[in-house]
Amino acid sequence: EASAVVLGLESSCDETAAAVLRADGRILAEAVLSQLQEHSPYGGVVPEIAARAHLEHLPRLAAQVMAEAGVAWPGLAGIAATSGPGLIGGLIVGASFGKGLAIAHGLPFVAVNHLEAHALTATLPGVVPEGARFPYLLLLLSGGHCQCVAVEGVGRYRRLGTTLDDAVGEAFDKTAKLLGLPWPGGPALERLATEGDAARFKLPRPLYGRVGCDFSFSGLKTAVAHAVGKHPAGALPAQDRADLAASFQAAVAAVLADRARHALDMLPAATALVVAGGVAANAAVRQALAGVAAERGLALVAPPVRLCTDNAVMVAWAGIERLRRGLTDPLGHAPRPRWPL
Ligand code: KG4
Ligand code: ZN
Repeated sequence: EASAVVLGLESSCDETAAAVLRADGRILAEAVLSQLQEHSPYGGVVPEIAARAHLEHLPRLAAQVMAEAGVAWPGLAGIAATSGPGLIGGLIVGASFGKGLAIAHGLPFVAVNHLEAHALTATLPGVVPEGARFPYLLLLLSGGHCQCVAVEGVGRYRRLGTTLDDAVGEAFDKTAKLLGLPWPGGPALERLATEGDAARFKLPRPLYGRVGCDFSFSGLKTAVAHAVGKHPAGALPAQDRADLAASFQAAVAAVLADRARHALDMLPAATALVVAGGVAANAAVRQALAGVAAERGLALVAPPVRLCTDNAVMVAWAGIERLRRGLTDPLGHAPRPRWPL
């Protein structure tokens, strides 16, 4: 029923998160702890460090959101924890912690697929004003995932296309590194691009115009590497760096728009174009996708950035949708590093 409350836990990558959500979509409390500082010296997420950080922080975050929500443990309808796909150490930490809470308080446990959680965020009442109705096209654009998914209902997903090499966020991060920007490079590259000329470098647009909606980014990254490589020791003039950033971003936005058009061709019944994942925070990407949606007379549904990137509200929401259908998981459920939708 509408007053049921679920605790969501997220620990699949480098965000430790907990949230308390009511079945009517009201967020009672949410907390996200980014591990950026732990990982930045290594220029990427170190799985072992991530798992240890989740172990250290998750219990406190869970207690914090429960206190903030003013909900007693027995008042919960269930515990939902991300159980894949992702880094196995962190998944084991989060799922085991969630199961322990479920045992201690006699609550149902829901093992949530992280991709399903991203996919259903657009249906969270009140959070996305224009609300998404099934079926819609989801573009999941993050550091670990890059795919087009037909979302036809809760538990009904069809992957229409995916990346043949790097995820789009990974491409942003690797290109940013080539340009001497700190990790994670996406936001820094976007900032640098504002000072650049996007028409300056003619970069490839991999798979542009190709049937289907697969993605490829490694050729684009390599083209940037070549442009940078002409300058020894990375002594690239500042304007060249900005122009490369802008040209790269424009190429990515153009490719994503083209892939979205082809994906919409594959799902003519789509009621909306939905974006999720960290790259959905990029203004050039949003603008390009808004253009595609407008061409088709559809709304572009982009949840607020904090719900686009990894969070526990989306996990709790997926948990609520599953509990509504009586879908709970046994305490022996094993977390899965790979778990396609
Ligand atoms: O969804 P997310 O927070 O975590 C996962 O990868 O699951 O996405 C992070 C990715 C990183 O690759 C980051 O560089 C990219 O999203 N990103 C951006 C922007 N903000 C984050 N890429 C381009 N422009 C941005 N403004
Ligand atoms: Zn994610």
